[in-house]
Amino acid sequence: MRKFYIETFGCQMNVHDSEKVIGTLAARGYDQVESADDADLVLYNTCSIRDKAEQKVFNRLQEFKRNGRGRTFGVLGCVAQQEGEKIFERAPHVSFVCGSASYNLLPQLLDKVEAGDRRVTGLSLDTEDTFDTPMTRRDNPHRAYITIIEGCDKSCAYCVVPFTRGPERSSASTTVLREVRELADRGYTEIQFLGQNVNSYRDPSPAGLNFAQLLREAGRTPGIRRVRFTTSHPRDFGKDIVDAISENPVLCNQVHLPVQSGSSLMLASMQRQYTRDEYMRRIEWMKNSPRNIALSTDIIVGFPGETLEDFEHTLSLLDEVEFDSIFSFKYSPRPNTPALKLEEQIPEDEKGRRLTILQEKQRAIQLRRNADYIGVVQEVMVEGYNKATGQWIGRTSQNKTLNFAAGSGETAENMLGRYMDVQVLRAGPNSLVGERVN
Ligand code: 5AD
Ligand code: SF4
Repeated sequence: MRKFYIETFGCQMNVHDSEKVIGTLAARGYDQVESADDADLVLYNTCSIRDKAEQKVFNRLQEFKRNGRGRTFGVLGCVAQQEGEKIFERAPHVSFVCGSASYNLLPQLLDKVEAGDRRVTGLSLDTEDTFDTPMTRRDNPHRAYITIIEGCDKSCAYCVVPFTRGPERSSASTTVLREVRELADRGYTEIQFLGQNVNSYRDPSPAGLNFAQLLREAGRTPGIRRVRFTTSHPRDFGKDIVDAISENPVLCNQVHLPVQSGSSLMLASMQRQYTRDEYMRRIEWMKNSPRNIALSTDIIVGFPGETLEDFEHTLSLLDEVEFDSIFSFKYSPRPNTPALKLEEQIPEDEKGRRLTILQEKQRAIQLRRNADYIGVVQEVMVEGYNKATGQWIGRTSQNKTLNFAAGSGETAENMLGRYMDVQVLRAGPNSLVGERVN
């Protein structure tokens, strides 16, 4: 029996791609093992969104340089696509390099790898296909990810994704909805639609559904209790999405809408194709929904040319929106991207200073916002158990973590995946604590 080990870096798309790669390998008779030491084939599914993520991959490859004998090493994902054959020079023990746009060719590429070919590549971005595999091996028995659109047609000045994941390709709504129904039949209750920009979903099937219609259809599937989606681009984010959420409680009241900056000047030089006002209009739609939609965003500090005034605009945006959570990053120059050529790069320590200020402000906002939930009863899906605290880990429709006590006698078997009502008793900046109510 051939054994493989896979480690995944980066975003949810990568996590789900790995599930599909694992399914493909399992169907070929491979067994997954938990340690690279036990594997014949070692795969890293990589991320190159920021330099740090990329360095992690090369460090990992370095660890194996000496004792890698007898094993085959493969680099998948975004670093593979970005660095291509250069990886063979930098890490000569690697014999397989494949970007996500070529995963539909995995079987043919694996034939070559297995035949002992030392330089197998899948690097073409010239594909019309998405990577759909019936063999997908899903890790979580309750929540399933479905990629509805791959690639990205935007050209944000800082971003490698258009280079690492290629142009946009949508899956047919008929395929997506069939998968939703099959997953529901197998006991899944939560579906998460994935894509770099789910809002620009274009249905290639004759049904011709737009994204909001696809959401509504998925939300009508018997057995499905929660539908989420990520990631949205503000430019393509229509009011019809908010209306769909407002009208159907199965669609989770949670939206991740990356803003990147609160300064319209910075947004223009980032080539984001919207202004602060246009972003705020979308936020207003959501604030006006009866569903109390939780909002999250991504923010980059220290983009080239960002003045203290621009940065202040980002801070004031946080005050104005009061996000439920944010992911914030120091700008990291990436290969091939237009922002590389911009002058006025911000020094690292100044980026760090701005990031700290931003995160401290947001922490206070979250603490304040989460305190509003004290006393409120929320429905959670039970996701896990924390032995150290003796608490169950639940997630609300708003995607907040709500840890709770459920009384003795409950076991993982009868708790995990269940939906139950929990009253919030305490609130921290990143999670809530509560008690199950009967
Ligand atoms: N530097 C810093 N952050 C980046 N992101 C994307 N590219 C870069 C970069 N070059 C952030 C954006 C994006 C999130 C996934 O990662 O905020 O929304
Ligand atoms: Fe990282 Fe972007 Fe690739 Fe996801 S798509 S793995 S975030 S570079």
